[in-house]
Amino acid sequence: MSNIVVLGTQWGDEGKGKIVDLLSPAFDAVARYQGGHNAGHTVYRNGTKVVLHLIPSGILRPGTLCVIGNGVVLDPRAFLDELAALRKVVDFRDEQIVISRHTHLILPYHRLVERISEDTLGERKIGTTCRGIGPAYEDKAARRGIRAGDLLDLAVLEDKIRQNTAEKNALIVRAGLEPLDPRAVFEEFAGYAESLRRFIGDASRLLNAEIKAGRSVLFEGAQGTLLDMDHGTYPYVTSSSSTAGGACTGLGVGPTRIDAVLGVAKAYTTRVGAGPFPTELRDELGKAIGKKGDEFGATTGRARRCGWFDTVAMAYACRVNGIDRLVMTKPDVLDGLAEIPVCTGYLYKGSLLDEFPTEPWILEKVQPRLETRPGWKLPVHEIRDWEALPPAFLDYVKFLEDRVEARFAVVSTGVERRDTIFNDGRLGGLLDLAKIRAAV
Ligand code: GDP
Ligand code: IMO
Ligand code: MG
Repeated sequence: MSNIVVLGTQWGDEGKGKIVDLLSPAFDAVARYQGGHNAGHTVYRNGTKVVLHLIPSGILRPGTLCVIGNGVVLDPRAFLDELAALRKVVDFRDEQIVISRHTHLILPYHRLVERISEDTLGERKIGTTCRGIGPAYEDKAARRGIRAGDLLDLAVLEDKIRQNTAEKNALIVRAGLEPLDPRAVFEEFAGYAESLRRFIGDASRLLNAEIKAGRSVLFEGAQGTLLDMDHGTYPYVTSSSSTAGGACTGLGVGPTRIDAVLGVAKAYTTRVGAGPFPTELRDELGKAIGKKGDEFGATTGRARRCGWFDTVAMAYACRVNGIDRLVMTKPDVLDGLAEIPVCTGYLYKGSLLDEFPTEPWILEKVQPRLETRPGWKLPVHEIRDWEALPPAFLDYVKFLEDRVEARFAVVSTGVERRDTIFNDGRLGGLLDLAKIRAAV
């Protein structure tokens, strides 16, 4: 029985949702440890598309326990809407979902404050998802946040909402917007308290008990390593810890309980929102890759910027997360290209950097050193066995691996569960492949 973290190694949207859904039959619980409904995790089940934002991507599997950790920020309205939408397409029981009582809530003033902050930044704006994520984490750090557990005592809730709304109204009015009515906010949230009460529990205690009883947990990351608040391309990041350490702090599970970190990596790179992106393609080819890869945000619908695979950034991501096994997604989008450039170094002020610089003012000026690999002619989509993969594709995989100190153990070749190739040897018993294969 192993407990693993599955997380994004780039700027998000690597295909984490597909991979978590695929692997979840081998786990008893799937737990989200950070982020909020800024995430959009797409899962296909027999041609039906389901996009998850807050609810862990294990929910499509009967009986899987789905935990929302203290490291997540939760907008109750978004959660309830997602639940209602999900009920129409998936059979699950409410008891399968647990929200940590320490999970911080997103309130209506968080969205307003975020809009003001983005407008004030003008040209320098982050390009956030405008879901109130950053401001909710700000309040958490400032020790004035409202947590899911506060919904269980309406007097406490009312007092906190009154105080917080008054403070935020000062800002809101200064920006020329209508102030919020604290009474109306409280009444709205008192309604959510009623609906959410049954989901709120002690996530840390529950998960540790599961692990102690020999059951296994998959820790699901949102966003990606380069959007991590500490290790990403700050300030063009999200406001949470999307790297592996976040799984421990975001759920109250110690590092000794985690067996491995599986990094999900797209065969190329994408980014949504502002911020440096050394291998970005600003030409027709970039647009064509975006079109073929359907690279439009699962949350905001924005076009994702596309570029080549970056081994400098990937080596960094493998290091900060302790990743030794990778999952490659979407190589099918590169099918048919005569050659595929890969970034293998950055030139900065005339010299080659041997480390990924996270500072935007450096990253914006680096010149990516691109080395070109031959493309593969045979489409990878229909292939089911590692051995049957085209030699040029395996050469591409090896070329990347030689530069990142991690090996690809899984290759995804399409949106459906069956479009996946496992390398049993490289997984070395980490995953119960019999269970996973039986549930495809
Ligand atoms: P996440 O945020 O990491 O879960 O990724 P998203 O769901 O936002 O974006 C990934 C997109 O790629 C989704 O539309 C997936 O359905 C799709 N996808 C995942 N794996 C593959 C793959 O191997 N090939 C192709 N063509 N699409 C994939
Ligand atoms: P998943 O889980 C891609 C980006 C936003 C913006 C920055 C900060 O689907 O991979 P925020 O609203 O979090 O304060 O925005 O982070 N961003 C994502 N980009 N995938 C995501 O999630 C993202 N979540 C946030 O575009 O640049
Ligand atoms: Mg996404």
